[in-house]
Amino acid sequence: MNNTFKSLRFSVFTSSLLLLFFIASANAQTAASGPVFRLDGGNTTYAFGVNERGDLQTLYWGGRLGPHDQIPPAHSYPEWASFDSPNTTTPQEYAGWGAGLYTEPALKITSQDGNRDLVLHFVKATPDGPQAMDILLKDIAREIYVTLHYSMDPETGILARSASIENRDKQPVMIEQAAAAQWTLPPARYTLSYLTGRWASEWTLNQETIRPGTRVIESRRGSTGHQANPWFAISRDASQSAAGPLLAPEESGEVWFGALAWSGSWRFTIDETQFDSVRVTGGFNPFDFGYKLKPGEHLETPVFYGGYSNRGLGGASRLLHHFEVAHILPRAPDPKPRPVIYNSWEATEFNVTEAGQIALAEKAASIGIDRFVMDDGWFGQRKDDHAGLGDWYVNPQKFPNGLKPLIDKVHSLGMDFGLWVEPEMVNPDSDLYRKHPDWVLNFPGRPRTEQRNQMILNLARPDVREYLEGFLDKLLTENDIAFLKWDYNRNWSEPGWDQLPPDEQKQVYVEFIRNLYAILADLRKKHPKIEIESCSGGGGRVDLGILRYTDEVWPSDNTDPFDRLSMQDGFTYAYTPQVMMAWVTDSPHWLNFRSTTLAYRMLSSMQGSLGIGANLNKWTAEDFATAKRLIAAYHAVQRTIVQGDLYRLISPCDGSEFSSTETVSHDKNQAVVFAFTHSTQEGRGYPLLQLQGLDPNADYQLTWLEGKAMPGTPQSASGDWWMSHGINLDLRGDFRAAAFRLDRQK
Ligand code: DGJ
Repeated sequence: MNNTFKSLRFSVFTSSLLLLFFIASANAQTAASGPVFRLDGGNTTYAFGVNERGDLQTLYWGGRLGPHDQIPPAHSYPEWASFDSPNTTTPQEYAGWGAGLYTEPALKITSQDGNRDLVLHFVKATPDGPQAMDILLKDIAREIYVTLHYSMDPETGILARSASIENRDKQPVMIEQAAAAQWTLPPARYTLSYLTGRWASEWTLNQETIRPGTRVIESRRGSTGHQANPWFAISRDASQSAAGPLLAPEESGEVWFGALAWSGSWRFTIDETQFDSVRVTGGFNPFDFGYKLKPGEHLETPVFYGGYSNRGLGGASRLLHHFEVAHILPRAPDPKPRPVIYNSWEATEFNVTEAGQIALAEKAASIGIDRFVMDDGWFGQRKDDHAGLGDWYVNPQKFPNGLKPLIDKVHSLGMDFGLWVEPEMVNPDSDLYRKHPDWVLNFPGRPRTEQRNQMILNLARPDVREYLEGFLDKLLTENDIAFLKWDYNRNWSEPGWDQLPPDEQKQVYVEFIRNLYAILADLRKKHPKIEIESCSGGGGRVDLGILRYTDEVWPSDNTDPFDRLSMQDGFTYAYTPQVMMAWVTDSPHWLNFRSTTLAYRMLSSMQGSLGIGANLNKWTAEDFATAKRLIAAYHAVQRTIVQGDLYRLISPCDGSEFSSTETVSHDKNQAVVFAFTHSTQEGRGYPLLQLQGLDPNADYQLTWLEGKAMPGTPQSASGDWWMSHGINLDLRGDFRAAAFRLDRQK
């Protein structure tokens, strides 16, 4: 057991029952407070307690406190005149909607008899080891219980929170709104960071001053969505200026952040209340939500992870990256860096054949590719996107002898084999839809909206789940497949589930996602070697829920190497480069018609988990040589790049002419630096790069992967030199790139 772990404390300070608090309010009252609960991990302490009324009240979330520091017990805040009751002014850990609550509730219900009042009070705490506990709350009158789960990671201080809502009453209740958690920040001025986008333009980092009122970030689409991602960061504004800072600092200041582990419709509300406190509530999206709990039933919310850093947004994202690698990914705590893949999609689109794929595989093997992935088009009557989804048999015209000859060939070339699937979808032009038209999400008698000529199978249905799991299991049993690219190319419409009574149909929002997770978990159990990518027309399904079952994600269909720099920048605020697949594709690029060199494209993709998606049939001998050289260089430093500490030295966003990232291995033995230009103007040189995170006293040897430094740069120098003096690159021109590594000299 390491020291950090040993020093973790879970403590309940039962304050003296006789301790009285005088509350400064119009109607001052005296009362005794209850226990205080405290969780410590990494550089963080989180504390909450029970006030004199029995509410569970947030007390502290921030930098780690001393082991013997006492946290003042909870006492509810006074009412603000006659317009805001203590129930509204007091920050609760999980507020029921009732008793005059005007701030965002965590839970809102309606009982069958029409009662809509819910006031949750503390019942008991059950510790679960040194850094986890369950807190039981109960309505003041009814048999409605909520168990709040808390578990803090000892290394990063990231706290996992979720709720289990249980109906022990004699009548059903309808849950209309259920958050996973509510977070309260200390009163201050703040800047909110969040990620938005659209297809082919995901991962835009937005920053804005938090103002009084509510900011909503959400998906109503049935899945995570390209348009917003369930991640936030809130930076304390050190300047205290009314306007707030223009940008939240990258490497300094306090940051509170969170990410929701849910792949269905979700919502965050970020409120600055009338009392200047900032609260974040997140969980199931209450829009069109309704989950009926019969007597004896319970609903488990997703997990909402929250963390704190005093090293700015950079520190916050490094904590998240470590946490994801160590605790979220299916092969945590030690997932291997991803194989370098080749994917055929941009080369062939739907036109896949045995001969065509073999020709590409031979070329891919020659540059050092580890995994060959055949994309869309291999199954059913799939010639384009009008037909075939749902019919998961191998197309006999394209592959007369099944997949085996191709897979054998790929293996003989020293690569393993991956395959594209889109299990939750069906084309109306398919045998499956002709046989089971009732299997899709729909409202009977209403039109069924198609997007990309496809509809969504209602995976909440047990028969649909069985079909999907059955064909996937058969595919993996009959073929030697190492990897599935699991795609999902549209969002929901007409989300009906007419097998169930009308007041239960909205449960589709929960059951669909639960069945998706269950299938992924079952497949991984039955086929322990399988690896899976979550793709949704690019980055439409990336969240900490799906990442428990998938090894990597496809951040965007936009593979333009310059656009990718800012997308990758945004992506890494929330997610580790370990899961960030990045393909090198053709130039000029199909989206922006921009021409770039192969070296520039390679270096852009090498910042994440590298893949090649170009049409290798068009490559020159020089292209093959460049790719082979850079793939070998990448393999040698990949673990540092994808699992090391990431420092964003220069942001590519907001019209920046330059960008640069650095990753440092945890033992500080190696650093890898990438640098890019958008354009050189007026002959200006590349900005000085002062590196970060090195051991100041160690000597580091410089090796170029691509490019060069200005004359006079030493081949070896101390960590101090690289960080304080810095390095001047000889990098000018439009869309140019350089990369180097530093290795500690023994
Ligand atoms: C969308 C994905 O994002 C692409 O990479 C490709 O797999 C296509 N679907 C195939 O239809």
